[in-house]
Amino acid sequence: MAKMEAKTSLLDNMIGVGDMVLLEPLDEDSFINNLKKRFDHNEVYTYIGSVVISINPYRSLPIYSPEKVEEYRNRNFYELSPHIFALSDEAYRSLRDQDKDQCILITGESGAGKTEASKLVMSYVAAVCGKGAEVNQVKEQLLQSNPVLEAFGNAKTVRNDNSSRFGKYMDIEFDFKGDPLGGVISNYLLEKSRVVKQPRGERNFHIFYQILSGASEDFLCELKLERDFSRYNYLGLDSAHVNGVDDAANFRTVRNAMQIVGFMDHETQSVFEVVAAVLKLGNIEFKPESRVNGLDESKIKDKNELKEICELTGIDQSVLERAFSFRTVEAKQEKVSTTLNVAQAYYARDALAKNLYSRLFSWLVTRINESIKAQTKVRKKVMGVLDIYGFEIFEDNSFEQFIINYCNEKLQQIFIELTLKEEQEEYIREGIEWTHIEYFNNAIICDLIENNQTGILAMLDEECLRPGTVTDETFLEKLNQVCATHQHFESRMSKCSRFLNDTSLPHSCFRIQHYAGKVMYQVEGFVDKNNDLLYRDLSQAMWKASHSLIKALFPEGNPAKINLKRPPTAGSQFKASVATLMKNLQTKNPNYIRCIKPNDKKAAHVFNDALVCHQIRYLGLLENVRVRRAGYAFRQAYEPCLERYKMLCRQTWPHWRGAARAGVEVLFNELEIPEEEFSFGRSKIFIRNPRTLFKLEDLRKQRLEDLATLIEKIYRGWKCRTRFLLMKKSQIVIASWYRRYAQQKKYQKTKSSAVTVQSYIRGWKARKLLRELKHQKRCNEAATIIAAYWHGTQVRREYRKFFRANAGRKIYEFTLQRIMQKYFLEMKKKMPSLSPIDKNWPARPYLFLDSTHKELKRIFHLWRCKKYRDQFTDQQKLIYEEKLEASELFKDKKALYPASVGQPFQGAYLEIGKNPKYKKLKDAVDEKIIIAEVVNKINRANGKATSRIFLLTKNNVLLADQKSGNIKSEVPLGDVAKVSMSSQNDGFFAVHLKEGSGAAGKGDFLLSSDHLIEMATKLYRTTLSQTKQKLNIEIADEFLVQFRQDKVCVKFIQGSQKNGNIPTCKRKNNRLLEVAVP
Ligand SMILES: Nc1ncnc2c1ncn2[C@@H]1O[C@H](COP(=O)(O)OP(=O)(O)OP(=O)(O)O)[C@@H](O)[C@H]1O
Ligand SMILES: [Mg+2]
Repeated sequence: MAKMEAKTSLLDNMIGVGDMVLLEPLDEDSFINNLKKRFDHNEVYTYIGSVVISINPYRSLPIYSPEKVEEYRNRNFYELSPHIFALSDEAYRSLRDQDKDQCILITGESGAGKTEASKLVMSYVAAVCGKGAEVNQVKEQLLQSNPVLEAFGNAKTVRNDNSSRFGKYMDIEFDFKGDPLGGVISNYLLEKSRVVKQPRGERNFHIFYQILSGASEDFLCELKLERDFSRYNYLGLDSAHVNGVDDAANFRTVRNAMQIVGFMDHETQSVFEVVAAVLKLGNIEFKPESRVNGLDESKIKDKNELKEICELTGIDQSVLERAFSFRTVEAKQEKVSTTLNVAQAYYARDALAKNLYSRLFSWLVTRINESIKAQTKVRKKVMGVLDIYGFEIFEDNSFEQFIINYCNEKLQQIFIELTLKEEQEEYIREGIEWTHIEYFNNAIICDLIENNQTGILAMLDEECLRPGTVTDETFLEKLNQVCATHQHFESRMSKCSRFLNDTSLPHSCFRIQHYAGKVMYQVEGFVDKNNDLLYRDLSQAMWKASHSLIKALFPEGNPAKINLKRPPTAGSQFKASVATLMKNLQTKNPNYIRCIKPNDKKAAHVFNDALVCHQIRYLGLLENVRVRRAGYAFRQAYEPCLERYKMLCRQTWPHWRGAARAGVEVLFNELEIPEEEFSFGRSKIFIRNPRTLFKLEDLRKQRLEDLATLIEKIYRGWKCRTRFLLMKKSQIVIASWYRRYAQQKKYQKTKSSAVTVQSYIRGWKARKLLRELKHQKRCNEAATIIAAYWHGTQVRREYRKFFRANAGRKIYEFTLQRIMQKYFLEMKKKMPSLSPIDKNWPARPYLFLDSTHKELKRIFHLWRCKKYRDQFTDQQKLIYEEKLEASELFKDKKALYPASVGQPFQGAYLEIGKNPKYKKLKDAVDEKIIIAEVVNKINRANGKATSRIFLLTKNNVLLADQKSGNIKSEVPLGDVAKVSMSSQNDGFFAVHLKEGSGAAGKGDFLLSSDHLIEMATKLYRTTLSQTKQKLNIEIADEFLVQFRQDKVCVKFIQGSQKNGNIPTCKRKNNRLLEVAVP
């Protein structure tokens, strides 16, 4: 929608007229006024048909934004206000869509804005053509080649702060889709004289200032340069700094651009080294030195600079030094070496600097071309952009201006050829009625310069090649002879002396009346510059450099390739390259941008009428409009025209059977296009007004939309119909499937109902039958039962008498048996564990089984005890026997007993055999020792205890001293009468001896032992086994003990716990010994 509201024609909101073709009245004043009016309203672009006039605004306008690019993209040329983007878009689209190679020819004088225009065209094309990483890289490289070439090839002149000092033609190559593939740049003659000398108010090439301002201290040091401009003779000082130009920032831009374009680091380094070397060459100075032959020879004043140059470039210092002092001339086999005087040395130095720089520049172009070269071999479409130095008129015009202006003449010529002449000729060719329009054809000037026999360039070459003394003056003389009569050539010395009185024309000058004005050329330097002579010694010295770039720049220095033929002169080289360029341009569809400079002050908002008028005149713009107006804006061969518009007429659509021309006639008649708007040529139709073409285009667009609608309509109808048919077919299928399904369902339902009814009836019938049968069966059974009962009654009645007698007992026994059986089976399941100490026993189920139950428990216990015992070894058996014996003797009799149950009976508490202390004792006793233990012997006198070793052997009881092991008493077992002890919890016991026995003399022993129960038991058992008599063990709390003659009563009383658990023994009187047991 936004687009719809936007402009649809350049006529909308137009300031003045956007297209000069519409200018009324058409004369110079109205032309200039129109331009001025538009310029004042910031409209810097105006059309003459398809030619764009561009006026340099000298300030940045907001008309190049990305939004503007979008606005102009894919729009008709006349749809929007005139703009360089419209022309770029038109060119790009016809390249992409109509496969026509294009060239954009940008002309105008120096400072008119050609370079800027070329960049705008390139950036527009870059913005609208294809996208993608690879394509973007190509675009970026193409765009970034500009800053590099501008740094090395542009300089500030009095006319332009960024004047192109070389011609540039760039072919941008595209693939069939319109995506950029790469490009090729051609450069034309760099103004190299600027390297060594600049006119007042001008500068050397930008790069010198950029390096000195922008390079880091380190880098400068590396290049052996100093930041100070005034140190260098080659840098004009009066305008070293240009307003609004930041050389340092530009240097960074250039380095960055070089990197993007693809320069390797070492290449960039080499380039700057060469630039530094050129700059330093200017500082080499010479002084005369007299020689023996009276001639002066030049010598270098200060060799320091030379040394640094040689270090920088890797040239042998002596070689270079010699090359500045001598010149070797080779003629056939001879080599002659002559010395150079100071002037010649300076000449040689400057020639070297110029050559070095211009060759570096050409190398840069080649290197950039290598980077931006299209990678594929597919067919390419080409858009050429020509930005050549503009027409120049300086105070002093030299060979360079002559060449530059010649180039501009040629461009004007091609413009005339393609627009004015070609156009008019075409009308004649096509037989169109035509009134010829006068215009100035500059072919005559071109001829003056380039004619192979009489042209100025040919004269110059002839002069340069001529043997004998050749000077600029001899050249001028020659010109005077040959060109004197040419109406565009003027000189003071010309034969007819037409200009003898013209004081404005000095003697050493000639003047050419160019299409853009008269230019006076100083003849001085023409011969030299055309010769472009570099002494062979110098080129050989350069070739010997170890610096690979410099070596590559001077291939002719290679002694192996010595070529005695003169190289082509600068003029003839240039002429040849211009001719190639013209040929190239003629194969392409031209698009013109004619740049106009509004003032000489590089100022914004200033429109100098006279200056503009002058440019309009020499550019022939007015003639251009006239031709355009008199002629036809558009032409096209009949076939493509009919093909394009045939849909606008019934007769021609869709096919026209007759000749194309007749078809177009029918078409135009049908469309009622006014007759004055078109003419029929022999092979083409000519349309006078662009508006007619637009009308046709609009109609076509409308018709295409209608056709599209028709196609869409038919397609939609077809689509709907097909869809409908498909749906109908589907519907029938679905309906039939559904009906089938519904019928199936209905049938299933009826069927299942029938089955249900049927089954109910069958069920009812079956049940009825079953009932009858059951009834019948019951009747039968009843009859049987009745019969059986009856039989039973009969039998019982018969047998009653045999049954009654034993029935009760039998039933009882049977029941009992069953119960017992059940009891045992239950018991089997509930049996307790086999552990003898397990007290569990299942509960008794029946009272009458009480005794059986207990008996069973007892038997089970005995059985499991037996089982348990069966596991014992003989030794265990012995121990348990002893323990059993102890139990029988002391259980429930002596309070000490329960504590002893858990203690194992060890017998030999003292290890008599092992302890060496008891060796004597061991030796004395040769029987097996049953007990060996320390006991306390109670003193009979005071009841005090003394330790004794108590030994029990098979036959004896022994008491021995504990310390010495001496046997104190020995009692055979047969002499022991009895053993007494208390019922209490003490270890006292008395061993009573038989009266009259051998040991009885000393009396009974009253002893106390910690293992009383064990001792007594073992004593008892040993005695029994030895004497076959039971030892009497008396347990009483009072007993008598025989002490020698006396009998003393030992009485056990309940004592206090004063001394802990140890019983105390006290002699009370002669007859009583009291033992207090706690
Ligand atoms: N469209 C523009 N918008 C703003 N400024 C412009 C425009 N065109 C040109 N200029 C200004 O004019 C100056 C000169 O333009 P440019 O270098 O393009 O001239 P030229 O025709 O290439 O001159 P020469 O023949 O000397 O190379 C530019 O540096 C710029 O400042
Ligand atoms: Mg330029």
